[in-house]
Amino acid sequence: MQPLSASAPGKIILFGEHAVVHGQPAIAVPLAAVQVTVCAEPAPPGTGTVIHAPDVDQTRFIKPGTGESADTPDPLYNALVYPVKLALSVCDQPVPDLALTVRSTIPIASGLGSGAALAAALIRATTAALDHPLDNDALNPLVYEVEKRHHGTPSGIDNTVIVYERPVFFVRGTPPEPFTITRPFSLVVGDTGHSSPTRLTVSDVRSLVDAEPDRVGALFEQIGALVHAARTAIESGTIETLGPLMNTNHALLQELTVSSGQLDRLCEAARRAGALGAKLSGGGRGGNMIALTQPDDIPAVAQALRAAGAVRVIHTTVG
Ligand code: PMV
Repeated sequence: MQPLSASAPGKIILFGEHAVVHGQPAIAVPLAAVQVTVCAEPAPPGTGTVIHAPDVDQTRFIKPGTGESADTPDPLYNALVYPVKLALSVCDQPVPDLALTVRSTIPIASGLGSGAALAAALIRATTAALDHPLDNDALNPLVYEVEKRHHGTPSGIDNTVIVYERPVFFVRGTPPEPFTITRPFSLVVGDTGHSSPTRLTVSDVRSLVDAEPDRVGALFEQIGALVHAARTAIESGTIETLGPLMNTNHALLQELTVSSGQLDRLCEAARRAGALGAKLSGGGRGGNMIALTQPDDIPAVAQALRAAGAVRVIHTTVG
């Protein structure tokens, strides 16, 4: 085989995280500014498959004849080995002598879809190396399988937006609806620097639903309604109206207990510096927040986020 590489982008949930696990819609867009790239090249005979992740100083081996481990809480097995094993099983081939090297600019466990992007890039690289490339419709359910290992009960939004690399209006269990972004808009993304496993926040929200089904169900309904309003605003190009919707979505996420002091401080700093609206994005309690910002205000908002403690600030245009 010739050496090859495959990649997948990060993602941003614009509206509807957490409620989407419980049947409400959500809107997400790919984030091409951060990527996972996997290079595949032949390895010496008898090596089996080697997965190097130099960014996290980890190497994992898949030896011929090793079966799939039962469901395991080992995050590195689930992130690095499991996607490759799934790829080998769809190719119906024995373990090849293959070296896979992973590079990622997506921060881990911070709401930007690192797990799904890593799985998508690993499966793309492995299947292409075995001359069995998959189209996105075949790839998407495999990445969802990996997401289940990470999250327990993922909605499927991360794998969908990352595999198809298109903005998506997503309802769990239904085919993704691509939609049109009539007028591009700018987001400033601020990283708290604290990783927070989505599995935990999703499970805490589930406990909240079990304890107070009526109150929490009503919060989900409110989030769903604002996701519909946001879709209308994005499709009609009335971007200004998205800002207040983001602020309301953040307040509802606070009520779901998935914000944090640092996320609240970053959102507040962005608003004070002129952002039209701001909210946490993804699983919450850490990770990233997003601020809808007019192009002229981007430097001030980025500066305010850094001053409020953001460890990394990215600017991206959606649409
Ligand atoms: O934290 P992330 O990037 O994995 O986003 C998760 C989004 C949730 O709605 C919290 C969970 C899900 O599966 O949809």
